Amino acid sequence: MEITNIQTTPFDDQRPGTSGLRKKVKVFQQPHYLENFVQSIFSALEGFQGKTLVVGGDGRYYNREALQVILKMAAANGFGKVLVGCGALLSTPAASCVIRKYHAFGGIILSASHNPGGPNADFGIKYNTGNGGPAPEKITDAIYNLSLEISEYHTLETADINLDLIGEQMIGDMHVEIINPVSDYADLMESIFDFNAMRTLLSSGDFTMRFDAMNAITGPYAYEILVQRLGAAEGTVLRGEPLADFGGAHPDPNLKHAEELVASMNGGNAANFGAASDGDGDRNMILGYDFYVSPSDSLAVLADNATLVPGYAQGLTGVARSMPTSQAVDRVADELGIECYETPTGWKFFGNLLDAGKITLCGEESFGTGSDHVREKDGLWAVLFWLNILAVRKQSVADIVYEHWRKYGRDVYTRHDYEAVSVEGANALMEQLRAHSSELIEQKFDEYEVEHCDDFRYTDPIDHSVSSHQGIRILFTSSARIIYRLSGTGTDGATLRVYIEQPENNSEKLDWDPQDSLAKLIALSSAIADIEKHTGRKKPDVIT
Ligand code: G1P
Ligand code: ZN
Repeated sequence: MEITNIQTTPFDDQRPGTSGLRKKVKVFQQPHYLENFVQSIFSALEGFQGKTLVVGGDGRYYNREALQVILKMAAANGFGKVLVGCGALLSTPAASCVIRKYHAFGGIILSASHNPGGPNADFGIKYNTGNGGPAPEKITDAIYNLSLEISEYHTLETADINLDLIGEQMIGDMHVEIINPVSDYADLMESIFDFNAMRTLLSSGDFTMRFDAMNAITGPYAYEILVQRLGAAEGTVLRGEPLADFGGAHPDPNLKHAEELVASMNGGNAANFGAASDGDGDRNMILGYDFYVSPSDSLAVLADNATLVPGYAQGLTGVARSMPTSQAVDRVADELGIECYETPTGWKFFGNLLDAGKITLCGEESFGTGSDHVREKDGLWAVLFWLNILAVRKQSVADIVYEHWRKYGRDVYTRHDYEAVSVEGANALMEQLRAHSSELIEQKFDEYEVEHCDDFRYTDPIDHSVSSHQGIRILFTSSARIIYRLSGTGTDGATLRVYIEQPENNSEKLDWDPQDSLAKLIALSSAIADIEKHTGRKKPDVIT
């Protein structure tokens, strides 16, 4: 079959963000826009001729169309084989699992994660390398630079293939294998967790769980694992059908967007354990009866209880958290005598540490938790980890967390997001902080004395690459912290994230609402950065 070379001109806005290229669907639908980016990915890679690529997406609007384009371009660029999740589906952690299991050269994931979907909403595309993880900055920078110079791309003029038929097909000389998107991932989960103990708990009659798939990708995965393999009751999985627009909802598992699930965890009919995952299945939210577990606490509890899970029975080599994530897991690492690494925001920074065997578990405050089983954060995995702990400890979620706080203290934590604010205002706010950071050191604001203030800079301990400007940190002598950074995943204006944290060891105050415990520090965070002046906002849009 003839390869066609199509002439094109560059777009100047194809720089991948925290997690791939995310834009409005309408932007991706411009002629040549998707093709330019895909060609830039392939041109940035070397040595993939005849090798295997994995492709799948979270099922959102434009997923199938984009996948057909990518298949033809992969064939024209010389890949030997592509593994595609049936229905064009693969959750992000499942894609990572498949890349690793079949030793693929890499993979392309079509997703805008927790961003809304539909013709007027968001789409995204990202490249993962052969370790199953997001491409490092070296590659994403190369992709961007190529996108600024592109003059042609390669494709094949051929009919679309049937994405819903499991088995082999051909595009030109390239094999396309449509695979079951769930089974490899479900098998991996079965190899890590104590399915017998979990099955016993779920059939005990006095334990119920609810999993909210938010009309996104994890519905089929949760149904297969929780209902089919673990025997949970029908009805355990809520909003289980992946929809192209997520039913008009925002598929982000937090207290605001999983409102119905949260409400159903109180009162007479409440379940013992509640959980949710996001658009592409890599995030998780954990709830107990009338109890919310913050992601930072969840990571610390998982680390502390890891040896209860067969897959981690040997213990942890080390742990890592992103810089704005609370310091709760640091305390567990101290107790276990293992290293805790502090990385910039974004999963890609965990890859080298995982590959080098330096860490077993890692996580972010943004509802992301994971381990060395794949190279992405993994929503259902975190839910199963909790279920495994509950099955062994036979205590409630709240009891386990309170016990944890009594032992280690509580890192009271909140994140305030100011969404879709003006880019100029947000940049000015960050500039002002940066300019004044040295003056802040040793200043005292009531009981809060600033010990250190900087713009976080990370040197990767494995490849020594340096990532600068990763967020302004104000560190107080008491270990309290205020951190400011701008989101790298939004598609509307700028989003300012303010992370506020303070350790609490007073057992009388462990159950306080973080917004109350942190009230003074929250007010201080607004004043120091002049948030209202720069954003025009009096209060945040989302509090987690
Ligand atoms: C957000 C989260 C970050 C996460 C990323 C991808 O990025 O804050 O922790 O890795 O989404 O899920 P941000 O928008 O803050 O750049
Ligand atoms: Zn996601």
